[in-house]
Amino acid sequence: MLRPLALLLAFQIALPAFAQQASDTISPEAPTGPATVEGLSPAGRTAQEAKEAGRPVEAQDWMVVAAHPLASEAGARVLREGGSAADAMVAVQAVLGLVEPQSSGLGGGAFLVWHDAETGTMTTLDARETAPMAATPRLFQTKAGEPLEFLDAVVGGHSVGTPGTPMLLEEAHRRWGQANWASLFDEAITLAEDGFAVSPRLAGLIAGEPEALARFPATAAYFLPEGQPVAEGERLKNPAYAATLRRLVADGADAFYTGPIAEDIVETVRSAEGNPGVLSLHDLAAYRVIERPPVCADYRGARVCGMGPPSSGALTVGMILGMLGPYDLKALGPWNPESWRLIGDATRLAFADRGRYIADSDFVPVPVKGLLDPAYLAKRAELLRGDDALPEVAAGKPAYDHAMLAPDESLELPSTSHISIVDAEGNALAMTTTIENGFGSRLMTNGFLLNNELTDFSFKTHAVGWPIANRVEPGKRPRSSMAPTIVLRDGKPVLVIGSPGGATIIGYVAQALIAHLDWGMDVQQAVAMPHLVNAFGTFQLEQGTSAEDLRQPLADLGYEVEPAELTSGLHAISLGDGLRGGADPRREGIALGE
Ligand code: GLY
Repeated sequence: MLRPLALLLAFQIALPAFAQQASDTISPEAPTGPATVEGLSPAGRTAQEAKEAGRPVEAQDWMVVAAHPLASEAGARVLREGGSAADAMVAVQAVLGLVEPQSSGLGGGAFLVWHDAETGTMTTLDARETAPMAATPRLFQTKAGEPLEFLDAVVGGHSVGTPGTPMLLEEAHRRWGQANWASLFDEAITLAEDGFAVSPRLAGLIAGEPEALARFPATAAYFLPEGQPVAEGERLKNPAYAATLRRLVADGADAFYTGPIAEDIVETVRSAEGNPGVLSLHDLAAYRVIERPPVCADYRGARVCGMGPPSSGALTVGMILGMLGPYDLKALGPWNPESWRLIGDATRLAFADRGRYIADSDFVPVPVKGLLDPAYLAKRAELLRGDDALPEVAAGKPAYDHAMLAPDESLELPSTSHISIVDAEGNALAMTTTIENGFGSRLMTNGFLLNNELTDFSFKTHAVGWPIANRVEPGKRPRSSMAPTIVLRDGKPVLVIGSPGGATIIGYVAQALIAHLDWGMDVQQAVAMPHLVNAFGTFQLEQGTSAEDLRQPLADLGYEVEPAELTSGLHAISLGDGLRGGADPRREGIALGE
């Protein structure tokens, strides 16, 4: 029998150990954890101390949480000066693209969820990368029709989709911005021109990637000057990035989608040594950010809202929570294997539906209503009534009157970054932003890396005689797991949250929601809690943490169990009696607020 107090203590004691683990990519582990960051304000240092002590940062008016202290500082400056959450996001993203270039940036895409304090409405914006019009369904297959090895597909031009992030920055500012556009790039331009100290995490990830980063001259020159990886603490300047930002300041997103920068992007993709891609100037000029209906699910009296297709994030989180509704997780508690049997098998059932039904809804009819229909989820939840692990899971039959689809086989590896912001007017913003794999396609131009988002498509087009919903098609957006989330109670935001992590994003976000809503953990406890994730049958337990104490109890229930690096980057803000911010101890970010 597990002793709750002993486990609770063990979870707390385990924190410094797992704060040392990191993986943004499939490269070996990189050091992370608290870094002494140059240019950090006294509030930033206090925020770091709070994070190390496992306490949330508290504030009254506004708050920002991002994956690097300098990015949080840039957002805080904008909010302090009266800027909106959308303004602050632009400043945060501009700095992240410099100091955390492996995870997100101008060469990538993002999903943004906005809750407007004045109108009480929720808006979701899709700035997902898009397959070039010259892409074919067999983009990631050999001549013989076999799927390529994952890294062979990732590194080079084939994997690059039309980026969405620059247009999202402009669109968010156009809709909700209050600050002067140019001022939002001040910190990023100064840091790029004067240099910034390379963080332990970035240095470790560069050191773990020497071959792929050395493959393309512009990338090698930046990350491996004179053949050596840039080291932790080294001052890295990126004048090309500063010049790109100055063009965005002057001409807005047009400066990216047409003209010299667009020409350089296309040239970089099409001339990639050994793996040239098919992106064209027309693809860039035709790119659009798309407003889509938010996807919401009810859980414990709250409304959990996020991004619909092409992201599977909100739908899959909603299905998991919907199936768990009838079960009293609060009474079971966080240290009980029965809680994890229910959460793990609900996640497996939700992933079976995700694999069959969810893709870009502009190309495939996605049964959004059917998958979240309470009657459908109640029926799926009955499958959880047993005592042991489900021996098998399969997709269910939501209301759906379209052609049969085959289960998906996409591989999504950990990557990405998440930004949570609340401004002084009470607007809330959750944005998950990515270039996909760590360092994306490894192609670089004009100071930023280009994404490899197209490898989020299924490499196979068909299985068991049926088409796969998430197959490559020209102009289509690859299915994502990103789950930027805003939780409402009585129509008001009570939690803003999201995480990086590829397909495991969904498990991280669902677990943190349960930790906060069922188990009463504050935001810092919820984001720091050791992870247990089961999307595809094997229970992954965060290695080096007390999650591993559940190994035998879960094996006794019939699960295969394995320790795994589960490097989430959960960034959360709770709203209620003031604001509380939580920053994932597995990464370098901080919460800042006043
Ligand atoms: N590339 C990460 C995701 O979209 O889920």
